[in-house]
Amino acid sequence: MFPAQTYIQRRRRLRDQVGSGVLLFLGNDESPMNYADNPFHFRQDSSFLYFFGLSTPGLAALIDVDEGREILFGNDLTVEDIVWMGTQPTLADRCRDNGIEEVQPLAGLKDYLAAAHGEDRKVHILPPYRAEHRIELWDLLEIPLGQAEEAASVEFITAVVDQRNTKTAEEIEELDWAASISADMHLTAMRMARPGLTEAEIAAAVHQVALAAGGQLAFPIIATVHGETLHNHFHGNVLKGGDMFLLDAGAETAMGYAGDLSSTMPVGDHFSPRQKEIYQVALDAHEAAVAALKPGTLFRDVHLLACRTVAQGLKELGFMRGDIDEAVAAGAHALFFPCGTGHMMGLDVHDMENLGEKYVGYGGEEKSTQFGLKSLRLARELEPGFVLTVEPGIYFIPELIDQWKAEKRFELFINYDKVESYKDFGGLRNEEDFLITETGYRLLGKPIPKTIEDVEAMKC
Ligand code: GLY
Ligand code: MN
Repeated sequence: MFPAQTYIQRRRRLRDQVGSGVLLFLGNDESPMNYADNPFHFRQDSSFLYFFGLSTPGLAALIDVDEGREILFGNDLTVEDIVWMGTQPTLADRCRDNGIEEVQPLAGLKDYLAAAHGEDRKVHILPPYRAEHRIELWDLLEIPLGQAEEAASVEFITAVVDQRNTKTAEEIEELDWAASISADMHLTAMRMARPGLTEAEIAAAVHQVALAAGGQLAFPIIATVHGETLHNHFHGNVLKGGDMFLLDAGAETAMGYAGDLSSTMPVGDHFSPRQKEIYQVALDAHEAAVAALKPGTLFRDVHLLACRTVAQGLKELGFMRGDIDEAVAAGAHALFFPCGTGHMMGLDVHDMENLGEKYVGYGGEEKSTQFGLKSLRLARELEPGFVLTVEPGIYFIPELIDQWKAEKRFELFINYDKVESYKDFGGLRNEEDFLITETGYRLLGKPIPKTIEDVEAMKC
């Protein structure tokens, strides 16, 4: 945990910004795999972690802004629990680490909220993303199961986002560490990727790096020879000479901070000539986007620059044609790059996505509905302290190509005859993590090879 003062100050700022009512935080519970006592790895809710620092199941907390009270609700272990789980400090002891002075049994939460409700005071909630929280919100506040998102408090969401979006020095240290462990995960894969290995063998070795460093995975590993599927979690293929292997993997530190890197490498010693051509276009887009990072710049513009660089490169290779600015404005490049250039990162790999991209990445503005642009998670003006990813890619997705070609979509800008011959190409991207500084940006963690020469040098 950070020092208690960190959590005290975060809660004070939150209280001051929301101004009135009761702020409710539901911690996460164990999530069973196949029976209650056999749970998945426990992960605390990130906002709970941010304001209270405690990473064990069965907790809730509230900040009563009107009455100036902060209360942690939870049950200490019984002797029977200790028989199975070992001795643990009491909640009161653990609260010395986060500055909370009042601890009550979990059963007291419902009565407290009922009393606040009876006094016509507002209970602010965050949007739930777990089914058990929907049930708890129904039980505690009679919010119908399907209406919890609408019942969420925009003031509460905005105040949480305002704080969590700007990373402090102690958080940046954690994020640097997460990115460096993530870099080791990628270096491991680069050294390993050879014909005859399975995707699962590489994924296992990559996972081992995160665990051995005392961390966890920040998200399920993408380790695939089918990089054209953006979130491909299948690990059953055998690597063959001539394939490209894409790894998208990141570590989470013991304190919960994420890293998120992608790399693409040849399975043999070298990329093929056509792989090199497409790889270089994606790398040019990546470098153009990185060079544009600075406070005051809209990340939407960084994204559009990456899109134009992809489209221009693909035009030079004969896949696209016509006026590139017009093609990108119309969304034609999204055949090859149907997603966003990056996203915020922090305690969540897509930081606070559960609170709504509209608030986190768009400062309250609505998102575009255009195919491609609608998947851009971050568009707002960049500020010092933001931590984000840069990850443009190029993907040849056979079903999307078939659909657009059949519809004759953007024929003015797309040379479908050429594209047709690349339907077996796959997909590629690089991804790095950056801190926005007062004057520009800083790469988080240690660098990993990215140029064609440097990636190939890892293999020989
Ligand atoms: N690395 C997974 C993602 O950004 O979606
Ligand atoms: Mn990412």
